[in-house]
Amino acid sequence: MDWLGDLYPWTKAFHVISVIAWMAGMLYLPRLYVYHAAAEPGSAQSETFKVMERRLLRAIINPAMIAAFIFGGLMLITPDVIDWANAWVWAKAVLVLIMTAMHGLFARWRQEFAEDRNRRSARFYRLVNEIPTLLMVAIVILVVVKPG
Ligand code: HEM
Repeated sequence: MDWLGDLYPWTKAFHVISVIAWMAGMLYLPRLYVYHAAAEPGSAQSETFKVMERRLLRAIINPAMIAAFIFGGLMLITPDVIDWANAWVWAKAVLVLIMTAMHGLFARWRQEFAEDRNRRSARFYRLVNEIPTLLMVAIVILVVVKPG
């Protein structure tokens, strides 16, 4: 596993790059839902949002999440990187799971918009929009400050 240790700075760089792309999408997709919820179903505007949402999810958010897990997972099996006795490691794992669950919900809601079945308000999406932001702030503090 020595080669993983040698590659560690690179694995970390590509992990952070993947996470930036994942987060960019996770912060923007619910913002699109805010505007989409206010658009008349069947209108040209609504159809444009559908295309933007599908492309953002398929071309950016899904592949970026997979890459973040691959590079993060490689660091997990790199010798001497993670000490599971530290509480921050577990806290990060829980918050990453919640982020992944939000990703799943966003994908489900995109499907509902695509089929003109959205029943949630713009205000709902405005509130939900804050969740990935809060998760991202907490995760970065955990991994960088490493409290406990
Ligand atoms: C997808 C699942 C994830 C896994 C398996 C994972 C795993 C890891 C591991 C093992 C490290 C190395 C820690 C160290 O060197 O001390 C790391 C670093 C990092 N992770 Fe993640 N991570 C994931 C998701 C995320 C997310 C969602 C964010 C931010 C929103 C994030 C932000 C970071 C940052 C900024 C670093 C670099 C910290 C440093 O400079 O040491 N990770 N990650």
